[in-house]
Amino acid sequence: MMDFKTYVTEKKALIDQRLGELLHTDVPQFTKLYDAMNYSLLAGGKRIRPILMLATLEALGKDTAPYVDVACALECIHSYSLIHDDLPAMDDDALRRGKPTNHVVYGEGMAILAGDGLLTFAFELMARQPLDPAKLAQCIAVFAKAAGPAGMVGGQAFDLLSEGNEAIGIDGLKLLHRMKTGIIFQGAIDLAAILGDAAPTQRALLETYARQMGLTFQITDDILDFTGDEAVLGKPVGSDAKNHKATYVTIFSLDEAKRMAGEAASAAIAATAPLGDKAWFLRDLVSYLLVRAN
Ligand code: IPE
Ligand code: IPE
Ligand code: MG
Ligand code: MG
Ligand code: MG
Repeated sequence: MMDFKTYVTEKKALIDQRLGELLHTDVPQFTKLYDAMNYSLLAGGKRIRPILMLATLEALGKDTAPYVDVACALECIHSYSLIHDDLPAMDDDALRRGKPTNHVVYGEGMAILAGDGLLTFAFELMARQPLDPAKLAQCIAVFAKAAGPAGMVGGQAFDLLSEGNEAIGIDGLKLLHRMKTGIIFQGAIDLAAILGDAAPTQRALLETYARQMGLTFQITDDILDFTGDEAVLGKPVGSDAKNHKATYVTIFSLDEAKRMAGEAASAAIAATAPLGDKAWFLRDLVSYLLVRAN
């Protein structure tokens, strides 16, 4: 069995290579837009969402080769969400993936359009895959719902409305985290479940895994915003405090947040037991999320 680090390195290289081939234009007037899209898309990043999708397929005993572009589409949507999240009208942050944010380099108008371009391109990329048409249509519908107003966009809107409002409470915070972040991990896993023909019992356990894994991820994100090292994190520390965000650290405490992340991680790991050895990476990923520094 491969170790976690080697697996991540290999999958990340595969995804980075393919992402680098995707966006180019022959129209000189469009070059700036494509540069802006590629600037953020190819700026590094952990590539957790595409890796999660491929690892879920492997946990279901499937070959991943035909699905690399679908995994790349996930990363296009994630990168768009980061460009818009950093805009002055949203979190107003100047550092992302260790580099100046998109709007700092290209200006706000171009950054908005680079986000729009990555979002729409993601669906073009999915739609043009030579896969079973019924399954593909299902993938597109499921993923559009996860990324859209009933999912991530809704979560980001709620995040804005929650600024300065600790009264959202634990249920509000759970909804916020599930929607702004968890739902995209859930989407990555749902795509793998559709493409990999997961049985209903497997889908149910993957759903539990996705929920708890996403929660582990975002509680840790909140903690790192508080305790992280900017040089390692690659994005500003203290952004949430600056914007008076409701987070696990502000609504609870640092220690409580750590305990809750640990609890969510254990629940995620436990959920994968019936998948056996093939799901080893899904388990190791959650353990990594608890100790990550970026
Ligand atoms: C950051 O996501 C944005 C959130 C959803 C909290 P990641 O921590 O996965 O960022 P990258 O892709 O590695 O830069
Ligand atoms: C952003 O959450 C989630 C999305 C981009 C959808 P955060 O605002 O906490 O993400 P970071 O901390 O800036 O990466
Ligand atoms: Mg935000
Ligand atoms: Mg942010
Ligand atoms: Mg954050």
